[in-house]
Formats: sequence, C-alpha cells, structure tokens
Amino acid sequence: MPQTFKPAANTIATVSLFAGAAVPFIAFLTGSTMTNSPYNTKQFVPIDQPAPFSHKHHAYELGIDCRFCHATVEEGAVAGVPATEVCMTCHSQIWTNSPNLEAVRKSCETGTSLQWNKVNHVPDFVYFNHSIHVNRGISCNNCHGAVNKMELTWKGQSFKMSWCLQCHEDPSKYLFETEAVKSGTISPREQVFDLYRKLSSGKKLTEVEYQLAEGLPQVVPSDDVHAGVAAMKERGINVTQLKDCYVCHH
Ligand code: HEC
Ligand code: HEC
Ligand code: HEC
Ligand code: HEC
Ligand code: HEC
Repeated sequence: MPQTFKPAANTIATVSLFAGAAVPFIAFLTGSTMTNSPYNTKQFVPIDQPAPFSHKHHAYELGIDCRFCHATVEEGAVAGVPATEVCMTCHSQIWTNSPNLEAVRKSCETGTSLQWNKVNHVPDFVYFNHSIHVNRGISCNNCHGAVNKMELTWKGQSFKMSWCLQCHEDPSKYLFETEAVKSGTISPREQVFDLYRKLSSGKKLTEVEYQLAEGLPQVVPSDDVHAGVAAMKERGINVTQLKDCYVCHH
C-alpha cells in the first residue's frame, strides 16, 4: 500500500505545531535575555559561594547521599538545594567555630536562607525535569561532571541544546547496567546513587563507573551498549519523539 503521507509530512506537522506554540517563546527570545549571564556560560569554573561547601568532602569522603540534601531529585523537576537546618544537623555540633561556617551560623540565627550562587541553569523557555532522567538511570555525573571530586561546585557540561539532543537521539549509549541491576537487586534509579556509595566505601568500579567518577567522557563497552538498547526497551524509553521541539519548549 502506498504511503499516504511522505515521511516529511511528519516533520512539517511537527514544525507547524511548534510554530504555533512558539510565538510567545520567540517573542520572549527576541524581547529579552539572549545575553548569557555569567553563571550560564562558564564551564569548569568553580563558583564562589557564601560558605565554601565541598561535595568532595561531604558526598565522597563522608559518603552523604545526594538525596539527603537534594531531596526532590527523584520525584520532582527540580533537585533543590538544602535548607540551613540540613547543614545544622551536623554543624550545630561539629566545627561550630569554623570561620568557613560563619554564613551558615548567621543564616540559622537570623532565619534567612543562604543565598547559594547558581551553577547550572537553562533558560526559562527550556523545560527540564530531573526525575525522568534519574529514574531512567542516567548518572548525575553525566550532566554535572565529577561532582564527587568538586571542592567548590562547577558546571560540568555546556547545557547547549545540541548537547541535550545528542543524547536524546540515542540514549542507549549512556545506559549501562551494573551486576546489581542485572540481577534485580537494585533499580536503575538506585544505580545512580550506588556509584557514590561504591566510591565512598572503596569498592571496585566497573569501567563505565570509573569514567563517570573521573569525569571522563563516557564510553560504554559494546556488549553493554546492547544491554543499553535492551534497557531502553525495558524502561519504556521512546526515542521517536525525544527530539521534538515541544519536549523541551512548551
Ligand atoms: C550535605 C549536603 C549535600 C550533599 C550530600 C550533596 N550536595 Fe549537592 N549541593 C549542596 C549545596 C549546599 C549546594 C549549593 C552550593 C554549591 O553549588 O556548591 C549544592 C549544589 C549542587 C549542584 C549545583 C547546583 C546549581 O546551582 O546548579 C549539583 C549539580 C549538586 N549539588 C549535585 C550533587 C550530587 C550529584 C550529590 C551526590 C553525589 C550531591 N550534590 C550531594 C549540598 C549537598
Ligand atoms: C552528616 C554531617 C554533615 C552535614 C549534614 C553537613 N556537614 Fe559540613 N562538614 C561535616 C564534617 C564532618 C566536616 C569537617 C570534617 C573535616 O574537615 O575533617 C564538615 C566541614 C564543612 C566545612 C568546612 C569547615 C572548615 O572549617 O574547613 C564547610 C564549609 C561545611 N562543612 C559546610 C556545610 C554546609 C553548607 C552544609 C549544608 C549544606 C553541611 N556542611 C552539611 C559534616 C557535615
Ligand atoms: C540529564 C541531565 C541531568 C541529570 C542526569 C542530572 N541533572 Fe541536575 N541539572 C541539570 C540541568 C539542565 C539543571 C539546570 C536546571 C534549570 O536551570 O532549571 C540542573 C540543576 C541541578 C541543581 C540545581 C537546582 C535545580 O534543581 O535546578 C542541582 C542541585 C542538581 N541539578 C543536582 C542533581 C543531582 C543530585 C543529580 C543526580 C541524582 C542530577 N542533578 C542529575 C541536568 C541534569
Ligand atoms: C545522557 C542523556 C540525556 C541528556 C544529556 C539529556 N536527556 Fe532529557 N531525557 C533522556 C532520557 C533517557 C529521557 C526519557 C525518555 C523516555 O523515558 O521516554 C529524557 C526525557 C526528557 C524530557 C521529557 C520529560 C517528560 O516529563 O516527559 C525532557 C523535557 C528532557 N529530557 C529535557 C532535557 C534537556 C532540556 C536536556 C539538556 C539540558 C536533556 N534532557 C538532556 C536523556 C537525556
Ligand atoms: C532535549 C531538549 C531540547 C529539544 C528537543 C529542543 N531544544 Fe531548543 N533548546 C534547548 C536548550 C537547552 C536550549 C538553551 C541552550 C542553548 O541556547 O543552546 C535551547 C534553545 C533553543 C533556541 C534559542 C536559540 C539558541 O539556539 O540558543 C531556539 C530557537 C530553539 N531552542 C529551538 C528549538 C527547535 C526549533 C526545536 C525542534 C526542532 C528544539 N529547539 C528542540 C533544548 C531543546
């Protein structure tokens, strides 16, 4: 049977669909901030903060789970930064006189929240959601660099549209499964956090985990790529629409 619509019709439909939705979006673009704010441009540059908070220290050396401080990362669009009380669960008792914690103490006394400088940011016309990525088993380090090694936090990726798209085109190259996931002991989502647990306890890492932990470009071994493709099916990932404009601009 001949095709009623040429494949191109699909693209045209998508584009016109987008064009309709995009009017306010384009107005926004031309009307305002195409200027890049400083935090948005600098990759790999450690950002100064009101208190010199170290992920290397807290997440790697002390082994505190990301979710202790970024409580909404699995369920919400936004990961969130911790309230001062979270810091005070420990720092009301340890290092209570450290000048490095002055801002934290002050925040606690005055009841005003700490103003952390933003490190990662996408413009307002881009929709991003943490929970879907983490639930599919994509590592924080894929998008943020080797957080476990950061003294002061820096931006690990450009967050350019092309960077989002190269993964959306074929996420399987970023999906791998450790033995624990293969055997069903943990979920793909838990694998994301298991990397840091393994690191902190000095357990042996797989090759891919090592690359992630070091902030090296991720190269999934070919047998694992097959596992990645299978994982896509299993996790119900549908790539046919993942590059459509409305996924990220709506
Ligand atoms: C003890 C609390 C704590 C833990 C544990 C923690 N973080 Fe953070 N995180 C913070 C604080 C405070 C900030 C804001 C200051 C900064 O950017 O360093 C932050 C900032 C970040 C940022 C940058 C936020 C922005 O402005 O863009 C990322 C990314 C991040 N954390 C990832 C992680 C990951 C991944 C883990 C687990 C490996 C983790 N964090 C564990 C407290 C924590
Ligand atoms: C689970 C306990 C725990 C939590 C929660 C925690 N810390 Fe810490 N933090 C520590 C320990 C332990 C040290 C120092 C140990 C060392 O240097 O040997 C430390 C050290 C620090 C230092 C360095 C102090 C110095 O003088 O060098 C800063 C700054 C700091 N923490 C900030 C924070 C902030 C901000 C938060 C909340 C986002 C936080 N911490 C949450 C346990 C914690
Ligand atoms: C697919 C890429 C991706 C993954 C995976 C990812 N992040 Fe993010 N993260 C981003 C982007 C993009 C932003 C900027 C969001 C914005 O500006 O709205 C961000 C922002 C943040 C922030 C700043 C506060 C916020 O929510 O905007 C924190 C904290 C953070 N991420 C922590 C984490 C942690 C912890 C993990 C792993 C459990 C993680 N991220 C996994 C891309 C990612
Ligand atoms: C390393 C791979 C990877 C990167 C990088 C990545 N994504 Fe995704 N993204 C995925 C996967 C996998 C899904 C889940 C698709 C599914 O389950 O069907 C997804 C889904 C989404 C969704 C759909 C959410 C929903 O609720 O339906 C949005 C929106 C999204 N990503 C935005 C972004 C943006 C914006 C960026 C760049 C800042 C980005 N992604 C970077 C892999 C990635
Ligand atoms: C996976 C998420 C994602 C998809 C899908 C996506 N974009 Fe984007 N787009 C972004 C991000 C992130 C930015 C902001 C970063 C940047 O400027 O590159 C952006 C920026 C833009 C901009 C601002 C100019 C620019 O390049 O910086 C335009 C225009 C745009 N997108 C149009 C589109 C169109 C048209 C489509 C469909 C063909 C599309 N986008 C699909 C994530 C996405």
